[in-house]
Amino acid sequence: MEFAGRDFLQILDFSSEELRYMLDVAKNFKQYKQTGQNHKYFPDKNIVLLFEKTSTRTRCSFEVASHDLGMGVTYLDPAASQMGHKESIADTAKVLAKLYDGIEYRGFAQKTVDDLAKYANVPVWNGLTDYSHPTQALADFLTIEEHFGSLDGLTVAYLGDTRNNVANSLMAMSAKMGVNYIGCGPTELQPDDKLLEKCQAVATAQGSSITITPDINSLAGTADVIYTDVWLSMGEDKAKWGERIKQLQPYQVTMQVMDLAKPTAVFMHPLPSFHDLETSVSREIHDQYGLSEMEVTDEVFNSDRSLVFEEAENRMHTIKAVLYLTLKPKG
Ligand code: CP
Ligand code: NVA
Repeated sequence: MEFAGRDFLQILDFSSEELRYMLDVAKNFKQYKQTGQNHKYFPDKNIVLLFEKTSTRTRCSFEVASHDLGMGVTYLDPAASQMGHKESIADTAKVLAKLYDGIEYRGFAQKTVDDLAKYANVPVWNGLTDYSHPTQALADFLTIEEHFGSLDGLTVAYLGDTRNNVANSLMAMSAKMGVNYIGCGPTELQPDDKLLEKCQAVATAQGSSITITPDINSLAGTADVIYTDVWLSMGEDKAKWGERIKQLQPYQVTMQVMDLAKPTAVFMHPLPSFHDLETSVSREIHDQYGLSEMEVTDEVFNSDRSLVFEEAENRMHTIKAVLYLTLKPKG
């Protein structure tokens, strides 16, 4: 396995063995962090974080992971760089690659992060695009494995917008890790055929299955993990809220849904989540549509079946593994 100098653009770019290894490296780093073992391996390296969308977890995870590895970090927000407005992606990539040892990008089109990788001769890491969120899927699987002790024979059920970035990467990671995946949502919001076919082929080779269905009863007695995400993702038109609420309300994760799954089933969510009225967006939705909870009820979110904060912590350990492996010199 060779990771040196590679980009981290999407889950399907890596073999099952490579992803397995990333999870193992992340576990080691988590232990180092917990026991205070120094791992400042790269005191001479610097990386840059380009964010065209907002972030709490991803930005902080990249920053803390970089500091823990001894590296310097520069954060550029959407207004702070020339990229896209005054300078092409190709020119930006070439300039940044002269100054930095690696580039993280969060933004809109997958093509942008792919192009950055094409033109930069240093590793480029995808911190979320409209199409995928691969570092999230790594953290999700570390969390699932820690909780159940093993991934063998597990079924992950994703409820809601089954074609969003988080769902796409979760489906791909499930396939690669040989875990069964059920994407449960309305027929209008189903994954792209090409991606689905690729994931199904990988899952078959790994001995698991990928099912996309509008039928919530497909979770009954089978799901070990109930996963959901926001109903409208960053960058989507806010005018779509009304339509999305209608389409996705039947897939809200309630205690009844949790009780449909296995008695040992856990709840997961990438965060941020609209589970109460403590955010300005959720209050606006409440005023306009009368909903006080959206993709998950507050009861489930705050229950002892919820792994959401462990999952958030694992963003940092898994991102650190990706940084370490791709920045480590060859051999
Ligand atoms: N889960 C996740 O990517 O969170 P942020 O948007 O806060 O980075
Ligand atoms: N699907 C969400 C994930 C946020 C981490 C979004 O893109 O807004």
